Amino acid sequence: MRFGGTSVLSNLDLDVGVGQKVAVVGPSGVGKSTILRLLAGLLLPSQGCLSLHGQRQVYLREDQDNPMDVRMVFQSPALLASLSVADNVGFLLRRSRRLSPADVRARVSRVLEEVGLRGVEDLMPGQLSGGMQKRVSFARAIVEDPLADTRHPPLLLFDEPTAGLDPVACTRIEDMIVKTTEFVGGTAVVVSHVMSTIRRAADRVVMLYGGHAQWHGSVQGFEVTDNPYVRQFRSASLEGPMQPEFT
Ligand SMILES: Nc1ncnc2c1ncn2[C@@H]1O[C@H](COP(=O)(O)OP(=O)(O)O)[C@@H](O)[C@H]1O
Ligand SMILES: [Mg+2]
Repeated sequence: MRFGGTSVLSNLDLDVGVGQKVAVVGPSGVGKSTILRLLAGLLLPSQGCLSLHGQRQVYLREDQDNPMDVRMVFQSPALLASLSVADNVGFLLRRSRRLSPADVRARVSRVLEEVGLRGVEDLMPGQLSGGMQKRVSFARAIVEDPLADTRHPPLLLFDEPTAGLDPVACTRIEDMIVKTTEFVGGTAVVVSHVMSTIRRAADRVVMLYGGHAQWHGSVQGFEVTDNPYVRQFRSASLEGPMQPEFT
C-alpha cells in the first residue's frame, strides 16, 4: 500500500483463517489502521491483492452493499453528532427496513446494555464521555440484522477498541470481542497496544514494523519469543530495532 510516493505496507503476506482472532500490533504509524481499511474495502491495495473467502475485496461504494459482511469499530468513535445514540446504533437496521421501529429500538437497547450502557438511547454523542462513545461505536458495529443475507460469517475489525478505557471497561470490551466473534462464527482482526486485549481477545498475533510482519504466531508464543521486535514491544523499551522516528 502506497500513499503518494510513500510505501506504508510492502510484501505483507497475511492469511487469516475463518474463526480466528488475530491481533495486529506495532508502533503508531506502521500501517495498522491501513490494514483494517484494506480489509474493509475502504482502500484498495496499490499492488498485490486481498481476498475474502476467496473473492477479491472490492472498493466499498456508498451506493452498493458490501458483498462481504464486514463490520468495523474505528479508532475514533466516528459517531454522527446530529443523531441520538439510538439512531447511531440503529442506523443500518433502520435503513434495511426489515425490522419495525419498535424492533430496532429493542435490539439497540439490548446491544447497548451488552456493552454496559443503559438508558443512554436518547442522549446525543456529545453528551457522553470518550469511553462511552467508544462503546456506542462498538455497539453499532455488532448490532445485528437477523434477516441480513450473509453467505459468509462476518469479518469483525476492531481498531484500538480498548485504547484509553479504564481496566474494567477494557475487560468488558475484550469479553464482547470474543463473545460476539464466536457467537456469529466470525473472524476478528484486532489492532491493539493493550497487552490485556491481546491476551484476552486474540489467539494469534502479528507484529508489524517497516511495512511487513516481523513476527507472527500464537499469543502464547508472543509472550515468550526472543524476536527483537516483540521483545521491545513487550518491554516498552527504547532499546531495540524499532526506532523512535517511526513513532
Ligand atoms: N489516506 C492517507 N493518505 C496519506 N497517508 C496516509 C493515509 N492513511 C494513512 N497514511 C499514512 O500511512 C501511515 C500508516 O498509517 P496508519 O495505518 O493510520 O498507522 P497506524 O494505525 O499503525 O498508527 C502513516 O504514515 C500515515 O500518515
Ligand atoms: Mg491506527
